[in-house]
Amino acid sequence: MKTIGVITSGGDAPGMNAAIRAVTRLASALGFRVLGFERGWEGLINNLFRLLTPRSVGGIIQLGGTILLTSRCPGFKTREGIRRAADNLVADNVDGLVVIGGEGSFRGALELSRETDVLIIGVPATIDNDVYGSDETVGFDTAVNTAVAEIDKIRDTAISHERVFVVEVMGRRRGFLALTVGLTVGAEVILIPEVPVHMENIFRTVKENAAKGKRSGIIVAAEGVGDTRRIAEEIEVNTGAEVRLSIVGYAQRGGSPTARSRLLASLFANEAVNLLASNAGKCVVGLQKGEIKSISLEETCSREKPLDTRLLSLARTLAT
Ligand code: F6P
Repeated sequence: MKTIGVITSGGDAPGMNAAIRAVTRLASALGFRVLGFERGWEGLINNLFRLLTPRSVGGIIQLGGTILLTSRCPGFKTREGIRRAADNLVADNVDGLVVIGGEGSFRGALELSRETDVLIIGVPATIDNDVYGSDETVGFDTAVNTAVAEIDKIRDTAISHERVFVVEVMGRRRGFLALTVGLTVGAEVILIPEVPVHMENIFRTVKENAAKGKRSGIIVAAEGVGDTRRIAEEIEVNTGAEVRLSIVGYAQRGGSPTARSRLLASLFANEAVNLLASNAGKCVVGLQKGEIKSISLEETCSREKPLDTRLLSLARTLAT
């Protein structure tokens, strides 16, 4: 192993820079050259990279975003794009590649691994926390805390005006972010893509709360449940409550990573570099019951991470 490449791919997540920093310094300490390919898979297809040294990754552990930039790269969905990336890795004498990203990026990594002997290791970094094989992903804790801080502020005005707020958080396909945020802000209702939305149940909860004097409320909804503006309007029409919609939005993707996100980034990077140094590839590192482990790319890409919907009833009871 002489040269390690690293990319950040897909939706950015706070802590990606901490992961780039750790990969670079750990690989350099083992005598490897480190190439940072820019803009995710695009950088591999167009062979856009820069040399990363221990000095060039100084002062970034606390920065959100990614110094390598990222992209969602349609070109990587083509055989031609994957072939070009594989050829560039060989041309650049890259022996191992660390892919820092989410489940979409790992599907690309799996396709690439079928076209090249370059060893590929995934580091799970996405605010969605939806990577099978890791209890938690880099950036998830930061996004949770960002959303919680915003919703605590919304709770103030909800109470003052005796209003119900539908608050949309990120999570197009999965509800891990909405569930954790909802539980930790004391949301009266949590809506996630994994559970069909029953409007009558929401109306009943809002009316029952009002009847017992709880005239304000927070309904946390993952963006993947559908049209949250329509949901807010329907609640207002059917309950008589004053309802507003607030969308936390892309702030959840940025900001300085929490210590937790930085720690996961460093531990995952350490495992990834050690796996490459021992000539292992085609896997994704992850946190499993407190331990840093790895599972195959195949398994990560073929399984759906289970979500514990019992937390929904816990949240409901806690919010009564
Ligand atoms: O994958 C992370 C994520 O933030 C999702 O929660 C969200 O639905 C999506 O990315 C937004 O994608 P884009 O950044 O392409 O708008």
